[in-house]
Amino acid sequence: MSEQPEVLLDARDVEVTYPIKGFGKKPFKALKGVSLDIRPGECVGLVGESGSGKTTLGRAILGLAPVTGGTIRYRGKEIQGLSRRQRRPLSAEIQVVFQDPYGSLNPSMTIEQILTEPLSVAGVPGAEARARVGTLLDRVGLPGDSAHRLPREFSGGQRQRIAIARALALRPSLIVCDEPVSALDLSTQARVLELLIEIQEQTGVAYLFVSHDLAVVRHISHRVAVMYRGEIVESGDGDQVTARPEHPYTQRLFMAAPLPDPDRQAARRAERLQLAAQA
Ligand SMILES: Nc1ncnc2c1ncn2[C@@H]1O[C@H](COP(=O)(O)OP(=O)(O)OP(=O)(O)O)[C@@H](O)[C@H]1O
Ligand SMILES: [Mg+2]
Repeated sequence: MSEQPEVLLDARDVEVTYPIKGFGKKPFKALKGVSLDIRPGECVGLVGESGSGKTTLGRAILGLAPVTGGTIRYRGKEIQGLSRRQRRPLSAEIQVVFQDPYGSLNPSMTIEQILTEPLSVAGVPGAEARARVGTLLDRVGLPGDSAHRLPREFSGGQRQRIAIARALALRPSLIVCDEPVSALDLSTQARVLELLIEIQEQTGVAYLFVSHDLAVVRHISHRVAVMYRGEIVESGDGDQVTARPEHPYTQRLFMAAPLPDPDRQAARRAERLQLAAQA
């Protein structure tokens, strides 16, 4: 058996600085030295308020954000700052599923075309690529006759299954999931989450799972990292971070998460006010 590396992805002190258009405008540092590692087969949840830099970190890993400091290693090799051409072989290794199931699929392509596209870009012959479509559809729980239909014939949850199938086509080792269930209604969310968990168990793919929803992150993640204004302020075992957060920001964030039980909600509100008074 070949030896698995301990760490699949290793981000160290990553900085991302966005140039801001307009004379005299200072560049904006969206990540201020973020370190995070992901092991093979692991799901690392990334939570934090809107604008804290979660998507930016995912995009930095995908080579889509301007990394201005630090290193990102994939299987030990530095991948930040690679050219598009140098990055191409990585697309089979690192894939992405976005939040918006309506915007992320080309409306004029059939499901078969959507699923075979990454395969043909990677050089898989047409007939072989088409032969894999049935297996991919089956893996995400869609009927085989979906292949010749268009995205508009599918619901939000089904479209997200198609996006997941597309991400799986090249058998990646890591998928950046950026709010993959946030646009779905609650029961669909639960089913798509179960699918992601099942796929992870079957294939050993690792996830960086970005979400602002704590309940979702708690359910799927082995480890959780909490972002606040471009920095990771707390990280560790999922249960520990979500049940006994240590950083005051994490405590406030978790108390802002709505609870189904009104009594617990009232108790949380009181705790939150008390914390705010101390801050
Ligand atoms: N292309 C860009 N140019 C300039 N600033 C940007 C750019 N992309 C993101 N930002 C800024 O960087 C910060 C982090 O944005 P990011 O999208 O990573 O946050 P997020 O945590 O994913 O938020 P959300 O939960 O709303 O998706 C924000 O202040 C945002 O305005
Ligand atoms: Mg985001």
